[in-house]
Amino acid sequence: MFDEIANLHAKCFPEHPWSSDDFRDLKKSGCEIIMSENGFIVYRSVVDEAEIITIGVNPEMQRKGIATAMIGIIENILKNQGVKKIFLEVSSTNIAGQKLYESTGFKNVGLRPKYYNGVDAILMEKQL
Ligand SMILES: CC(C)(COP(=O)(O)OP(=O)(O)OC[C@H]1O[C@@H](n2cnc3c(N)ncnc32)[C@H](O)[C@@H]1OP(=O)(O)O)[C@@H](O)C(=O)NCCC(=O)NCCS
Repeated sequence: MFDEIANLHAKCFPEHPWSSDDFRDLKKSGCEIIMSENGFIVYRSVVDEAEIITIGVNPEMQRKGIATAMIGIIENILKNQGVKKIFLEVSSTNIAGQKLYESTGFKNVGLRPKYYNGVDAILMEKQL
């Protein structure tokens, strides 16, 4: 599973791929990973808050609702666990990511200047 997700991650983020060991470490640190043939989502929850760590969809399969469906799946899981809020950071240069999160109900709640190698991160949240 970790090799497959690393391969898919490299297709989605060719400029900064994560290794199988990176995903293994995320799982060990308590993150949940959901992966299908064309997409993955990594998230973690602590008490009543959760964070989306990363999400990606095979470039050949984008704009078909796969990421929206994955976000819907984790929202249901998290609601059932009593989570009240999901938050995430997205690069200010990542328009696809920002549009995805806006379209799934996340609101822009702050900015972390120069968070990713000099690029600002937008902090977004959604109340469940
Ligand atoms: C961002 C990403 C996960 C979206 O996956 P997806 O399965 O294509 O998303 P969806 O089909 O569910 O899109 C839902 C909505 O998000 C918006 N959106 C998604 N991709 C977009 C793009 N490239 N440009 C503009 N808006 C986009 C649209 O509003 C879209 O609805 P529409 O297709 O009806 O217009 C995908 O582009 C990806 O893997 N990108 C590389 C990795 C990445 O940037 N991840 C997010 C940050 S961690």
